[in-house]
Amino acid sequence: VRTALVTGSSRGLGRTVAEQLLNRGYSVVGCSRTEVEFSHQSYRHYVADVTDEIAVRRMFHEMAVEKIYIDVLINNAGMSASSLALWTSPQTFADVINVNLVGAFIVTREAIRVMKARGFGRIINFSSINVPLSSVGGAPYNASKAGLENLSATLARECGADDITVNCVGLAVVADTGMADHLAASAINEKQMALMKPASVDIEQVMHVIEFFAAPEARNITAQTTYFGGLR
Ligand SMILES: NC(=O)c1ccc[n+]([C@@H]2O[C@H](COP(=O)([O-])OP(=O)(O)OC[C@H]3O[C@@H](n4cnc5c(N)ncnc54)[C@H](OP(=O)(O)O)[C@@H]3O)[C@@H](O)[C@H]2O)c1
Repeated sequence: VRTALVTGSSRGLGRTVAEQLLNRGYSVVGCSRTEVEFSHQSYRHYVADVTDEIAVRRMFHEMAVEKIYIDVLINNAGMSASSLALWTSPQTFADVINVNLVGAFIVTREAIRVMKARGFGRIINFSSINVPLSSVGGAPYNASKAGLENLSATLARECGADDITVNCVGLAVVADTGMADHLAASAINEKQMALMKPASVDIEQVMHVIEFFAAPEARNITAQTTYFGGLR
């Protein structure tokens, strides 16, 4: 049985991905700042803020004590802030970078230690079509995800000698999940019209990309970002 850690699994896309992985026979570990309302015999939840290095290290320590070793890490935990750059405070900018980029770094660093010791790992980071679109009103979010893509490539190279890969999923609007629920219909429409495939994606399509990157056979597929809708 393969084990996956999904960060930000309390709600939204992270929760749906965790449930989908359970349905596919994975053992799943999740974390978020709050408790979760669901339970499953193959699901273990940790309350941990990804930006808190001590909390993240504690989570990995507890996993080791319980002999939970992750094969797949999905860095999903994230936040967005929607305002024009001119009206965005440095604090808001820093908060978004801290969760989306520094948080992913903290979790990934601990995961790579475990994966190197075991000789296998698949790391999948959730980026966004906002990066190639440079979407208006997303300065900190877009910068955080661009940074995440570059961090992925550096980590991919640093793990080049191991059977560890680091890739990104460049998500378009995922129907009926999380952040997308808070976007105005006009904003969703504007994003989608910029795509070669002007449509939102569903969870089956997201899982298809995750399973592709997570496969043992994908050992030489690394430092890639797959954008939904045909961007590059
Ligand atoms: N939904 C979409 O259409 C879409 C599109 C493009 C990209 N994405 C990406 O997909 C990911 C999930 O998005 P979403 O729409 O599901 O967002 P969401 O509904 O806001 O959920 C975010 C999740 O992350 C957790 N989280 C936030 N800050 C955290 C922290 N500091 N430490 C630990 N967990 C934290 C939240 O749990 P707590 O509040 O309990 O901590 C929650 O479970 C994000 O990386 C986002 O950029 C989503």
